[in-house]
Amino acid sequence: CIANEAQDRGWNLYIVGGGVRDLLLTEDDKPLLLQDIDLVVDGFHRAADDRSGVTLANTIREKYPQSRLSIHGEFQTAALLWHKDPILDNLWLDIATARTEFYPYPAANPEVEASSIRQDLYRRDFTINALAVRLTPPRKQEFSRKGDLLDFFGGLIDLKARKIRVLHANSFIEDPTRIYRAVRFAVRLHFTIEPQTEEYIKYAIDSGVYERLRLSDRQAPALTTRLRAELKYILQAEYWKPALKLLADLGALRCLHQDLQLTPQLWWEIRCISRWLYYLDPENQLQHWLIRLEILICSLPTSEREIVAVNLQLPKDSIQRVRQLDQIATEIIPQLPKKQLPSEIYQLLNSYKYVGLILLGVRSSPEIRKILWQYLTKLSQVKPILNGNDLKELGYKPSPLYKQMLNDLLAATLDSKITNQ
Ligand code: CTP
Repeated sequence: CIANEAQDRGWNLYIVGGGVRDLLLTEDDKPLLLQDIDLVVDGFHRAADDRSGVTLANTIREKYPQSRLSIHGEFQTAALLWHKDPILDNLWLDIATARTEFYPYPAANPEVEASSIRQDLYRRDFTINALAVRLTPPRKQEFSRKGDLLDFFGGLIDLKARKIRVLHANSFIEDPTRIYRAVRFAVRLHFTIEPQTEEYIKYAIDSGVYERLRLSDRQAPALTTRLRAELKYILQAEYWKPALKLLADLGALRCLHQDLQLTPQLWWEIRCISRWLYYLDPENQLQHWLIRLEILICSLPTSEREIVAVNLQLPKDSIQRVRQLDQIATEIIPQLPKKQLPSEIYQLLNSYKYVGLILLGVRSSPEIRKILWQYLTKLSQVKPILNGNDLKELGYKPSPLYKQMLNDLLAATLDSKITNQ
């Protein structure tokens, strides 16, 4: 239907990027459910102007009123989302106009059309992401099953050889977040980064390209938003461990801070915090990826932590945690070994935030770690056997004494609970 609409206007329509890659990586007899599809419109008989993608999206929206349309960005990309639709549930369709330096002019011949989509593909990150399938006719016979494949840069060979390869030497200089994307695709797809591409990554890092990711740079807010998105992708994926190792091996953690290194101690801490989180928060309500990032940041000198967290535009409570960690440690660590009773430990730790104590726990000595673990897993969950309503029902009149009574009850519950176990 979309292809017909494009064809009626004399435009070509292509599916591009990750969708094509995943389609080609899926074995013929296995179904593939694409949820996020990137389409590019390109002029053929008639030039596509820079709003063709938006025009097409508007037409589709009229035909599918249940979809939601948003238009964004300098390049006028349109996105259509089908939400809670019985058939197209959660389908996300991005429609863009082919971006080229020189747009096809009226009556452009197919040569110009080809170079137009070619240029759009050439500006992309890796050969395996620079493939396109034409959805509008004419279609070549040989690709009748998967449509008409456009492969200008050897993407298919790289897909078969399982290689991540950039299209040009400046790719990482132009967009440093691609360093993180290279790692993400390599680990996720079980590909290797091709040696020349690895050299380009190292060159980009050595030349200080990550300096552009600092907020003081004019382009930085957009870049850091993308870097944070890539970090989130990596740190929340099940493959986060090999991905983090690979980032460290490539020296790419320097993009976050020039002194950030995955030392054996930090590697231990990040695995330890992940185990703790897995146990303490199996529903992942605490955003484990963010806490993993915080533990990386906390390995830096105190004065640098907040700068990095702010630079990455982390949420306020995250910034506060990395800023306050040392102060919390000074307040808690000398006191904790002196506390004998569970109720005393509870009283000391109760006013601190749960996640802050998790961060402190994995960075502390075994003795302190053990007490914090006991608090996080047991003591913090204990409730007094009676509450205010129970006291009322027992005939006690509400008064300021309630608070004291409930506190005493909680302390008694805590202490008996622990000695009973
Ligand atoms: N792209 C790029 N450079 C970037 C980000 C994206 O060239 N820094 C291009 C790639 O062609 C990519 C496409 O935009 O395939 C879509 O980007 P995105 O949705 O982020 O990635 P996908 O390849 O679709 O991968 P995923 O399956 O992880 O979403």
